[in-house]
Amino acid sequence: MAPQKDLQKVAAILKSNPKVIFMVGAGISTGAGIPDFRSPKTGLYHNLQSLNLPYAEAVFDIQFFQTNPKPFYTLSKELYPGQFVPTKFHFFMKLLQDKKLLHRVYTQNIDTLERVAGVDGKYIVEAHGSFAENHCIKCGEEYPGDDFKKYVFDQKIPKCKKCKGLVKPDIVFFGEGLPERFFDVWDEDLELLQDAKDGEFLTITAGTSLTVYPFASLPSEVPKTQKRVLVNKERVGDFKNKRENDHMFLDDSDEFIEALCDVLGWRKELDNLVNNAKKEIKGSETLENETSEDKVIDIKEDIKNELDREEKQGKKEVDEITKDLENLDIEKSKNKTTPKSI
Ligand code: OAD
Repeated sequence: MAPQKDLQKVAAILKSNPKVIFMVGAGISTGAGIPDFRSPKTGLYHNLQSLNLPYAEAVFDIQFFQTNPKPFYTLSKELYPGQFVPTKFHFFMKLLQDKKLLHRVYTQNIDTLERVAGVDGKYIVEAHGSFAENHCIKCGEEYPGDDFKKYVFDQKIPKCKKCKGLVKPDIVFFGEGLPERFFDVWDEDLELLQDAKDGEFLTITAGTSLTVYPFASLPSEVPKTQKRVLVNKERVGDFKNKRENDHMFLDDSDEFIEALCDVLGWRKELDNLVNNAKKEIKGSETLENETSEDKVIDIKEDIKNELDREEKQGKKEVDEITKDLENLDIEKSKNKTTPKSI
């Protein structure tokens, strides 16, 4: 639980109307039931072993995808947006937008939960892309979203309608460049940060292990004159060298937001946002109870079913080949005993 004294300091900063920049990762979505990547036991990379990957991150590696796209499609079915309700942390971003305090949200997440929570796209920088659009990796042709979704849920692999190449959502894989918007917007924001008065900005880094670059370097580039907050279950990246202006909360991100909103007197506004959105988001009643641990079990089951299906398919093919060979033998022996009439 976050110490009251530290919460009060951050609350006081927020009451002084700073421009807030978020830098977030998978940890802020675990409360929605989406596993993060690197947490021991519950992280996706620990649970992908059964997909027979050469190494866990290969599921998001462009070279591996070109030779075997199947693991990515198995995982996509589980992670496809539209199945999850945003967390309190996401709604806190929306609350800051309503209070005219939000300056930017840099997210590594592909779950689009910032948008679902109502944050305007102009504030969001999806550094690692999203499922919003899909393109052929060979000729670049766009592939229709509805068709793509159907293939994903039927566990089939879509092919480009023009050249039959492999199709991939515009998620940034290892071996690919980040969207231009990431670099352009960060250049602008960095200039603002450098020209700003002391404490004019507040950056909040949350739910990220800060291991994937260039995103991981953002917090370290924030000038020392600006205040930084870390909300993460563990101390990460540049926060291992604490600055004078840093506040660190090694907490669950949603519990932190609840406690902070209590101190700020914003809890009712936050809860209203959460409850109204949940009413609007169809099917949320059944989805909201699933934890990220449940989701990991779902993913493991899906992978197992897929492997069983492949094994059965393989066996069926072997049976068919054996049958063909047997028929061939019968034909041969028939030909031996019945000489052809000329
Ligand atoms: P990671 O899984 O690497 O890190 C998640 C961090 O969040 C860890 O430090 C956890 O301790 C912390 N965490 C987990 N649950 C939390 C919670 N409820 N509250 C607070 N902290 C929590 O995820 P990312 O840093 O986002 O790339 O990973 C970066 C990139 O690596 C991802 O964008 C992904 C992956 O390969 C792509 O999808 C292309």
